[in-house]
Amino acid sequence: MKKVLLLVLVFGYISCKNSTNTIKNSPKSTIEKKVDSLLNIMTLKEKVGQMNQYSGFWDATGPTPKGGDKAARYEDLKKGYVGSMLNVKGVKQITALQKIAVEETRLGIPLIFGFDVIHGYKTIGPIPLAESASWDLKAIKKAAENAAEETAASGINWTFAPMIDISRDARWGRVMEGAGEDPFLGSKIGVARVKGFQGEDLSSPKTIAACAKHFAAYGFAEAGREYNTVDIGTSTLYNIVFPPFKAVTEADVRTFMNAFNLLNDIPATGNEFLQRKILKKDWNFSGFIVSDWGSIGEMVTHGYAENNKQATELAVKAGSDMDMESNAYIKELANLVKQGTVDEQLVDDAVKRILRVKFELGLFEDPYRYCDEENEKKVVGKKTFHDDALDIAKKSIVLLKNENNLLPLKKENQKIAIIGALANDKTSPLGNWRIAGDDGTAISVIEGLQQYKGNSLKYAKGADVLMPNSKLSFVNELLINETDTSGFSEAIKLAKESNVVVMVLGEHGLQTGEGRSRSNIDLPGVQQELLEEIYKVNKNIVLVLTNGRPLAIPWAAEHIPAIVEAWQLGVQSGNAIAQVLYGDYNPSGKLPMTFPKNVGQVPIYYNHKSTGRPYGENNDVVFWSHYIDESNRPLYPFGFGLSYTSFSYENLKINKITDREIKVSVDLTNTGTVKGKEVTQLYIHDKYASVVRPVRELKGFELVELEPKETKTIEFTLSEKELGFYTNTGEFIVEPGEFNVFIGGSSNATLTDNFNLK
Ligand code: BGC
Repeated sequence: MKKVLLLVLVFGYISCKNSTNTIKNSPKSTIEKKVDSLLNIMTLKEKVGQMNQYSGFWDATGPTPKGGDKAARYEDLKKGYVGSMLNVKGVKQITALQKIAVEETRLGIPLIFGFDVIHGYKTIGPIPLAESASWDLKAIKKAAENAAEETAASGINWTFAPMIDISRDARWGRVMEGAGEDPFLGSKIGVARVKGFQGEDLSSPKTIAACAKHFAAYGFAEAGREYNTVDIGTSTLYNIVFPPFKAVTEADVRTFMNAFNLLNDIPATGNEFLQRKILKKDWNFSGFIVSDWGSIGEMVTHGYAENNKQATELAVKAGSDMDMESNAYIKELANLVKQGTVDEQLVDDAVKRILRVKFELGLFEDPYRYCDEENEKKVVGKKTFHDDALDIAKKSIVLLKNENNLLPLKKENQKIAIIGALANDKTSPLGNWRIAGDDGTAISVIEGLQQYKGNSLKYAKGADVLMPNSKLSFVNELLINETDTSGFSEAIKLAKESNVVVMVLGEHGLQTGEGRSRSNIDLPGVQQELLEEIYKVNKNIVLVLTNGRPLAIPWAAEHIPAIVEAWQLGVQSGNAIAQVLYGDYNPSGKLPMTFPKNVGQVPIYYNHKSTGRPYGENNDVVFWSHYIDESNRPLYPFGFGLSYTSFSYENLKINKITDREIKVSVDLTNTGTVKGKEVTQLYIHDKYASVVRPVRELKGFELVELEPKETKTIEFTLSEKELGFYTNTGEFIVEPGEFNVFIGGSSNATLTDNFNLK
């Protein structure tokens, strides 16, 4: 029997091994034929096995699974009842597991190995929110390319990234993992990252499959509380949430992950509208959908399914192709098919999708193509990865304030005090979601500043961010803010004796990320107190913020002369910060998310609606949309960021090419004395529409570098794609009428004109 099967296999789907027909050149139809012929010889249980994903034995990035022990899982693997594994890393481990799948199972179908490569594998780069602040699509793509090469060299062929959930809520810890609040920027960044991970040829041992997540609307968790319910309108779903997902589907992302949340009170995982109608039918997505960790089983807890059996039925019918760690499909699905509750065709469709991606990755041609220990040694941690990590880290930094040109720092004869535990931290800058990264591998701010020898540097911690007994691990909850102020006096003394104080404050790297929502978005612990105490003795403070979400820091914004948003920048963090502080890199980042004055303003975002009673109309009386104790304005708006030079915008011109194509141009001049980069941003406002449009919508941006006094004309084209919107039935339309255009260096741009669309 085995031999007969083998022959079928040899002629049916492994035939490419000795042929010249490489995966790269395989036409889609060839892969489809191979998928079909393999599917034909699979038993029902083997098919279900392909839809089963187990976590590595046992690194968990979610609650530890209740069902299944290690030995039983090995048995499943040997029988061919596992299609994929996650959280396994390193060529040695992966080869060993792949060997079982390929050599011990009846059909020898290789495993696909998934891993959360969110901002680098071993060479950790800036957190995605930081990277997004660069608005530099080339650099972002390059970072994903490097991450793919390093990941693939470690045996892994699939990343659970990019997360392209739009979010307007800084309380939600996972904003660190996305591109911020805007669907236009989010789409461009999502596509750049997918292209970086997947490259031109998925079967190359330097590329990996990407995964768009979390489908859909996970970024709208109520009150910013992780895993909470979502309740958004249809227009928000179509116009804000979907665009990045649609864009990456068009860029051929090979996998999707569904989400933990409800949408219209149906769990995303069991949501047929999302997965079958929108993604697989309307968008014609040909890859596969993996559930989120345990999200099939969680449909029971949601109150949507009575038990895992029903959850399995609902998830498969809704289009979830692979079960991550619910242990539900492997236990229930075959019986559901046998009983006639689930049509086997649905199983076949899911399995085909999974096999298709495995073929595209070249795993059938060579299941060990990602497994070369020599190559792993050469590639992981390569110098060029560090060079590129430094490049994008610098580009991610946003200069928020620079009164009296306190920055850049003078390079000589300065007494500089460095204060704040985060200045001396080599782990926190790695941020969250860096499971293959090693603690202590980031260049600290102190180490970065020490490269500059002309000044005298002294350090005083002042205070920790977290209590020393906090258990710092990815899956640990014990993060207690510091209350000890006993280190203040030493820091105050040092500040008094210094010309300039560099204070590095913010969040610990593990205070953001999954499961790390905050109800306050201030400086945690006693850092605010420390800042105010230092300010009393020395006003020359450069505040370097390292955090994974927008922070509400109104006092600092008012009093501190220089503020640098440095996020969590990865292994090269300290070098990047030092180069910016000393002016060897002129900061060019712009905020991808609005910074509120006060957590009570959240959700706060630039592309809001006018309301019937907006600011500026009746603001002398009570009855307009406002707070009685805080302004409506943000602390720092979306798109904002300063430079060591200045820019002016002039000559906004609008030319209509056709009724549906508008050309807009503007002259950008570097009016300062040093070379610098500016992100020119174009916003539109569709003034009257059948579905009310936001007061501003980003529809174009360009990153330009200019020498002092240099002027460049920047051109944008607005076509139907930019001018239209989705109705509440999901139809994309362009309506005639008046539009405003705004161009400038932030979402507050004032240069404006208008046009009429026929
Ligand atoms: C997260 C996903 C992640 C998965 C696997 C889940 O808890 O929501 O984004 O990819 O775990 O680690």
